Amino acid sequence: MGKPAPEPPEWLTHADHVVFDGVKKRFGEHEVLKGVDIRFKRHETAVIIGGSGAGKTTLLRILIGLEKPSSGHVWIDGRDIAPLGEVALNTVRKKFGMVFQYAALLDSLNVFDNIAFPLREHRKNLTAKQMQDKVLGMLATLGIEGKDRHMPSELSGGQRKRVGLARALMLEPEVLVYDEPTSGLDPHTSRMVDDLIEETRERFQVTSVVISHDMTSCFRIAHKAYLLIDGAVVASGTPRELAFGDNRLSADFIARSGIAADKIERLVE
Ligand SMILES: Nc1ncnc2c1ncn2[C@@H]1O[C@H](COP(=O)(O)OP(=O)(O)OP(=O)(O)O)[C@@H](O)[C@H]1O
Ligand SMILES: [Mg+2]
Repeated sequence: MGKPAPEPPEWLTHADHVVFDGVKKRFGEHEVLKGVDIRFKRHETAVIIGGSGAGKTTLLRILIGLEKPSSGHVWIDGRDIAPLGEVALNTVRKKFGMVFQYAALLDSLNVFDNIAFPLREHRKNLTAKQMQDKVLGMLATLGIEGKDRHMPSELSGGQRKRVGLARALMLEPEVLVYDEPTSGLDPHTSRMVDDLIEETRERFQVTSVVISHDMTSCFRIAHKAYLLIDGAVVASGTPRELAFGDNRLSADFIARSGIAADKIERLVE
């Protein structure tokens, strides 16, 4: 018999989609996450910023159930996933869609087959026609119709992002997780990706979690931003609160990025 499932804390509400509750993670002697508390709100966009080695990717891997916390709880829809075994975790993982850095498309497959990939893995009962309708419908929704027979190498950076997003949306996730969605893109394409993240949140009613080094992007899309330094959340709030509030750590971090924070037009309020 396993241990009884932990009781959710009293402060947890329906709006708390995914909650990190005192999450610690150590690799050997190295404590990479030092007690992280974050409440990812349903249908909001949270952006996690922080320097290299701060623990962002580790946090993301725990979020999507690829890595287990050493201690603490991860409440998803009110249920702690930290103690779950592989079978139960696999069900939980289906709530998440991942948009990887540089889109991570399979170069030997065309756009259609890249997007159909999760359907072939997880929706084996779909007919060929149903699969085609889903894939081509998503291409149209994301504004890249007609590209289904192209190879990834024949696409622009922005188009590749859309294909990566289309693939992530195929299994209808509740939470979309983006790892560095604008890295390697020119400023114009980066702003288009911001728009895409916000449009996707609205259209598909997802919760978005974005890991980013792009402070302009953070200002445009984040309902809430979190600054992670050395495995701890040292500041949280709206981007404006982080930039112009009392917290020196976040004000300095944002000032050092060189953006004109007061001039950026936000896509969300
Ligand atoms: N599997 C692992 N085993 C040992 N140490 C690890 C492992 N994964 C991550 N670490 C360590 O944890 C720390 C945080 O790594 P992480 O990849 O989470 O940082 P990050 O914030 O994503 O950095 P970057 O912005 O450079 O991607 C690093 O010191 C890293 O060496
Ligand atoms: Mg990383």
